[in-house]
Amino acid sequence: MILVVGGAGYIGSHTVKELIKSREVIVLDNLSTGYHSLVDSKATFIKGDLGDDLILKRIFSEYPIKAVMHFAANSLVGESVEDPYKYYQNNVSATMTLLKNMLDHNIKNFIFSSTAATYGIPNVSLIDESQPTLPINPYGRSKLMVEHILEDFAKAYGLNYIVLRYFNAAGAHESAEIGESHDPETHLIPIILQHLLGKRDKISVFGTDYDTKDGTCIRDYIHVTDLANAHILALNALLAGNRRAEIYNLGNGQGYSVKEVIDVCEKVTGIKASIEYSDRRAGDPAKLVASALKASEELGWKAERKLEDIIASAWRWHKSQTK
Ligand code: UFG
Repeated sequence: MILVVGGAGYIGSHTVKELIKSREVIVLDNLSTGYHSLVDSKATFIKGDLGDDLILKRIFSEYPIKAVMHFAANSLVGESVEDPYKYYQNNVSATMTLLKNMLDHNIKNFIFSSTAATYGIPNVSLIDESQPTLPINPYGRSKLMVEHILEDFAKAYGLNYIVLRYFNAAGAHESAEIGESHDPETHLIPIILQHLLGKRDKISVFGTDYDTKDGTCIRDYIHVTDLANAHILALNALLAGNRRAEIYNLGNGQGYSVKEVIDVCEKVTGIKASIEYSDRRAGDPAKLVASALKASEELGWKAERKLEDIIASAWRWHKSQTK
């Protein structure tokens, strides 16, 4: 049985949908940003917080858990600058409670959701895992702190872990039953698609003077189902004892500017967007593109879906929400 903490969130729920095909799954989520409706009905669902010692004790005593996947975190860069306490409390302190309970119950396999935000402002065109980690906001720092904690716990307590550093997760499940829904929504692709559905007046492009080909920020968009599959490969590698303390980037290896993403959305939907150019958003690096070579070589993982597929899947889901 696998415990998925944060399994009612965007990436967690998509991973549960894939994982449930081969494993028994129990989801723990406090529903602060997730939705019970996203959790596959074949999974056991428990509403609760990962920092709640009593709930964790009960779960680890009652269920034969072999590994934990941890998706539960606050993940908005801007919010983390305004309210760092929330980020260090939820993302670091509560994670410590989870890890302590795992170790108390001799559960030693852990998969952790980390982020490209740990790299800060890299000065290479393709970021691999050997790049320096110099995050520029509390969100990125909170994730990096947990990475360091895991490294120390692996040495001291024999914890086996895999850290997955996601680039820009996007897209929806092929069934269009679940997709990306945040409140408030801050992410580019859902914002564009909401606009194209008539739910927003226009799209604001944040910054046109970056040192990139068209002046707008470049990101590496990765389909959420590709991310889900990486978790399953990582889990299999951990349980087989093939890997025990590793970090992998997960991205497509191809960067798209904000303008290019809007163009592809227009092409996929056949609808013209109304765009406003505005100032830079605080904390945005100009360009983040992954080298995911290590995940390919060691986990056998490859992103299968390109930006067009990502947007087409997201569009199917967004349209289903208006019915
Ligand atoms: N953008 C706009 N207009 C919008 C929304 C976004 O121009 O209305 C731009 C942003 O400025 C950025 C790009 O679109 O250049 C992508 O922005 P997102 O908010 O979709 O994603 P981020 O790159 O800011 O953040 C994502 C995750 C973070 C993670 C980061 C790591 O949400 O959790 O990737 O790269 F830290």
